Amino acid sequence: MERLGVGILGAGFVAKFHLRAFANIRGIDVVAIYSRTLERARDAAAYAEQLGLGRPKAVDDVWDVLRDPRINAVWILTPNDTHAVYAKYVAEEARQGKGNLIGVAIEKPLARNVMEAREMLNAIEKSGLLHGYLENQVFMPSVTKGKEVLWGIGAKYSGRPYLARAAEEHAGPHNAWFWRPSISGGGVLLDMMCHSLEAARHFLYDPRKGKDSLRPRYIYGETATLKWLRKEYIEDLKKRFGIDFSKEPAEDYALAIVTYEDDEGNVSITETRTSWSFVGAGLRLSFEVLGPEYSLYVNTLQPELFTFISRNVRIPPSEEFVEKQNAEQGLMPIIPDEAIAYGYHAEDKHMVESFLKGKMPVENWYDGYLVVQLMMHAYLSAEKGVKIRFDPTQVESYVPSYARRRIE
Ligand SMILES: NC(=O)c1ccc[n+]([C@@H]2O[C@H](COP(=O)([O-])OP(=O)(O)OC[C@H]3O[C@@H](n4cnc5c(N)ncnc54)[C@H](OP(=O)(O)O)[C@@H]3O)[C@@H](O)[C@H]2O)c1
Repeated sequence: MERLGVGILGAGFVAKFHLRAFANIRGIDVVAIYSRTLERARDAAAYAEQLGLGRPKAVDDVWDVLRDPRINAVWILTPNDTHAVYAKYVAEEARQGKGNLIGVAIEKPLARNVMEAREMLNAIEKSGLLHGYLENQVFMPSVTKGKEVLWGIGAKYSGRPYLARAAEEHAGPHNAWFWRPSISGGGVLLDMMCHSLEAARHFLYDPRKGKDSLRPRYIYGETATLKWLRKEYIEDLKKRFGIDFSKEPAEDYALAIVTYEDDEGNVSITETRTSWSFVGAGLRLSFEVLGPEYSLYVNTLQPELFTFISRNVRIPPSEEFVEKQNAEQGLMPIIPDEAIAYGYHAEDKHMVESFLKGKMPVENWYDGYLVVQLMMHAYLSAEKGVKIRFDPTQVESYVPSYARRRIE
């Protein structure tokens, strides 16, 4: 195959990042964009056109994407509660072999719990489709280069890395559904620790031996709601999103420590922290990796570009400088191209190239599945208040307490 016809499900926040990434990838035709509301799909199609991606068809019926014979791959970019449903539709359509589908890529988290993730894996395996898991952080240029240096120099001359820290923090999500754990499946642990867990694991496995050479043994998790149950912030969420967080609270802070063992019995640890209660310039992604004679760190709020804007001007709120920006004044970091810095471009390029070559992407639903298992262990550990052994049978039908509970 020389060109990949792509259909996109979801025309929201993350779809824009993917469109920006697609604009710099060869061999791709964005054929159709679906949103629940036609207006939103049309806006995204117009944005695609503005980026030089032609004029994709805008639709509000998901089947108008899945049954279009020009479409070879589907990107699922819709809210968490729809992942299992849309994944099963795509898999069933491919299984019946009516269209020309060869692959599907899905945003993080793969699913809200292990039950959903298992069903999705079963369906995709039966369909024979190639599957990509869209974990952009393992494709960040700084992470890719960092891993090369860690293993190509650090590990080669002094031994494997043993500790990886990863954190993702901002002041809270941009849409109402994220704040409702009965819909999203959980709070910040589910929303953002999926990234940090996978990025930290990525740093620690030996690239010559592959991911399976590193096995999780124990997990300790901690969750709390530190900010958003305070009275003034409950009101703020009511005003902005029309939701009552006091009736359906979720964690806005989470920590997990995972102990891994490699194939030689070496122990390594990942420390991951995520929060929706961080007020700084904007989204902060940070990583730190330690080895016997080396270390490495990344902090996206320390880019090469800063601006200073004086107190004498009033600038309307925007996200011109960084995602989830909290201010427009003073000394501000700017990320020149977030679709590149956060890894969307490299991940989409990898997915497109893999599908065109008929190869399984390196980051795929098996990774997404393990990440869901790790997250469920972290929730369970936090709920029990103890460190637990990694044993997938104990989370097979587990649902985090935040997603189970609604206070009437
Ligand atoms: N990789 C990352 O860093 C990253 C960043 C953000 C989000 N994500 C993930 O990407 C996915 C989408 O997030 P987003 O931020 O793009 O969401 P969003 O801004 O709320 O957009 C959601 C899109 O899905 C459509 N949709 C389809 N079925 C829906 C349903 N049943 N309920 C609500 N919306 C529905 C919406 O349609 P209408 O608007 O027309 O109703 C909209 O086009 C999530 O799984 C999220 O976790 C990943």
